[in-house]
Amino acid sequence: MAFKTVRNLIIAGGIAAASLTGIAIAAGGSGPADGYKMIHKHWHWSGVTGSYDVAAMQRGYNVYAQVCRSCHNLDHLAFRHLGDKGGPFYDEYYKNPNDNPLVKNIAAEYEVIDVNPEDGSEVSRPGIPADYFPPIYRNNAEAAYVNNGAVPPDLSVMVKARNNGADYMYNLLLAYSHPQPEGITLSTGQYYNPVMEGSKIAMPPQLQPQEGVFEYQSDTEGQNPPEATIEQMAADVTEFLAWSADPKLAVRKEAGLMSMVYLLILSVLLWLSYKRIWRRLKPSEG
Ligand code: HEC
Repeated sequence: MAFKTVRNLIIAGGIAAASLTGIAIAAGGSGPADGYKMIHKHWHWSGVTGSYDVAAMQRGYNVYAQVCRSCHNLDHLAFRHLGDKGGPFYDEYYKNPNDNPLVKNIAAEYEVIDVNPEDGSEVSRPGIPADYFPPIYRNNAEAAYVNNGAVPPDLSVMVKARNNGADYMYNLLLAYSHPQPEGITLSTGQYYNPVMEGSKIAMPPQLQPQEGVFEYQSDTEGQNPPEATIEQMAADVTEFLAWSADPKLAVRKEAGLMSMVYLLILSVLLWLSYKRIWRRLKPSEG
């Protein structure tokens, strides 16, 4: 019996050690290059009770719309999602996001290609909340043609698609300024970026000090916006894209917390009834 337990423990330990080594190798293989130190931020939504910061998401949406949108789409996002509970433009007064004027205004800023039901011809019209963010290019061939051969990927689930995605996104946007070591040759349209796998990326640096070019508007609560520094814009757009990749996080955490409370109450009740049922029995001796 004892021998078996020890043997099982050794086997379990072996498996744990092997998988830890595997994780370490996998993580080491895709880490940043050339002495670049990843900045690990404490994000608003980390931890058991953390949730997305509404003002940060709104600023992040602005960065997306004014900077990233010229190349990247949000394939999995409809405008009305912006007004869902937990989303950047949710308004208690408009439980149905299709009625939310902010969401309507945002949708109307986009041009959507539709079909005229009368004659089947292609028409372009302003977006409505039910529309998905319209594609930027007709297809990948056009996307690649415009971007020196590289296709700008969908950003709506990017934070989930990369290991430690929020830190990855944040650092990727900031790492362009890291000094480029000698011996790296870049072809036309390539830029040095130690966070990108292979340290070469076909995306030009996006966030520049943009005095007068880009300014944050005050958010829907009327709070004064912070200064649009590169770090601030990178953090905000990351917050917005973290939400788009996992919009149900707040609801899930709330449900998790409620079930913990429920289980706790249940345990107390069970313990009390257990005490009551066995009250009259004396513990046996010997
Ligand atoms: C001028 C066009 C352009 C703009 C504007 C742009 N990107 Fe990109 N982006 C690209 C291209 C092209 C790629 C593909 C790069 C490659 O594969 O080397 C890319 C790739 C990416 C990737 C994926 C990197 C990876 O790991 O594969 C992320 C994340 C990203 N961009 C984020 C952003 C964000 C956030 C913004 C706005 C702040 C933005 N981009 C603005 C062109 C652009």
